[in-house]
Amino acid sequence: MSQTAEIKVDGKTIELPIIEGTENEKAIDISKLRGQSGIITMDPGFKNTGSTQSSITFLNGEEGILRYRGYDIADLAENSNFLEVSYLLIYGALPTQEQYDKFQQEVTTHTMVHEDIKNILDGFPSISHPMGVLSSLICSLTAFYPNSLNPNRSKSEIDLSIIRLLAKLPTLAAWSYKHKIGHPVNYPDNSLDYTSRFLKMMFGLPAEQYEVDPVVAKALDQLLILHADHEQNCSTSTVRVVGSSHASIYASISAGINALWGPLHGGANQAVIEMLEEIKADGGDTKKFLDKAKDKNDPFRLMGFGHRVYKNFDPRAKIIKKAADDVLAKLGVNDPILDIAKGLEEAALNDDYFVERKLYPNVDFYSGIIYRAMGIPTEMFTVMFAMGRLPGWIAQWKEMRENNEPIGRPRQIYTGENERPYVPMNKR
Ligand code: SDX
Repeated sequence: MSQTAEIKVDGKTIELPIIEGTENEKAIDISKLRGQSGIITMDPGFKNTGSTQSSITFLNGEEGILRYRGYDIADLAENSNFLEVSYLLIYGALPTQEQYDKFQQEVTTHTMVHEDIKNILDGFPSISHPMGVLSSLICSLTAFYPNSLNPNRSKSEIDLSIIRLLAKLPTLAAWSYKHKIGHPVNYPDNSLDYTSRFLKMMFGLPAEQYEVDPVVAKALDQLLILHADHEQNCSTSTVRVVGSSHASIYASISAGINALWGPLHGGANQAVIEMLEEIKADGGDTKKFLDKAKDKNDPFRLMGFGHRVYKNFDPRAKIIKKAADDVLAKLGVNDPILDIAKGLEEAALNDDYFVERKLYPNVDFYSGIIYRAMGIPTEMFTVMFAMGRLPGWIAQWKEMRENNEPIGRPRQIYTGENERPYVPMNKR
């Protein structure tokens, strides 16, 4: 017998079904509420509202659990690689060797981008933030692949767009960096693996033999795995809503990149480093900045702290914190802001304000320290997040389309003026 919930309103009792997921999460299905009562629900920021049923990623915020298609991220970060995790998220199962080899070959085949993209890239001033350049270049793929404009085309057409995105985003990301620093772009070296190929496009210089540091490549691959999906976060919900209008996958992913850019979301990894640099320049007084974060009259927030879902700890932050120690030690990098970050975490975890509000380091708190040690500039941190999140966005877009979900269109409660007649200008 399926459970139900009752809502009593205006003397009426409305019975609504309760749905339950495979991890015993429950939701009241209100899809018929307005039809039965004329009333809607209200939930700014959708803090209590589910938008879909999904089989891709499972989070448990209280227990700090994150699994992709049932596999724990610690297990995947330790034993898998980013391309394999991308296949898992998008197609729902770990690939056989044959499937993996075919997938890898297809991605490698499509790493080049049309030369005309350089004309678009050159139109951006060098001060452009790489996230704005990347979202534009990804959207420009609709021009080079007009068949993608109809997302209802054949499965093979969608699969080709998916491969093109996975293959070309790293190239476009590296090109956005090279454009910013005034260097010539590098073409993809397809003899390398996914992350090594990206690193060489980022840091390779003409007439120099660039050798990828395997420590950096491995650490970057692990970071990309940890960022690969996170159920219905802001940018993924954006990708789903844009895709629900039957816009192309390139337009949907471009929208996701823009949503991720915000400092409350993926842009936090850049904001964390800027905050830690500010604390360092100010003499390293973490208490002063904790007090600022607690002061309601001060807009300052402890960037990299807090999470909508995780109320104990972000499992990704735990893995990245350990990786930060390992990678900096292996690279022989002694970065004082790592100590400032640890001191800030220690102080916050012993401060009632943060403990009461269950504010712990999130995925963005330590990731920037590793990117920095790799030589990746701060403005590229959120681009790294986008590269990691790409397979998750793709998987969620694909699930939404395959389930033929309706166009996303929330309702509202109107609080403006009641009807009033037009008043001619000379009588106002
Ligand atoms: C990501 O959703 C995802 O899954 C996102 C992500 C993913 O993988 O896709 O995990 C990636 O975006 C991580 C979050 C990165 N953002 C930041 O680090 C920015 C700093 N964090 C906050 O802005 C905030 O914690 C959010 C945005 C992450 C969550 O905001 P919520 O859930 O809307 O919480 P809230 O703003 O309502 O805060 C609740 C209380 C408030 O205080 P009170 O009104 O109760 O007194 O906690 C306070 C807030 O003022 N608070 C903070 C704080 N975060 C929340 N106070 C100081 N510093 C902070 N960082």
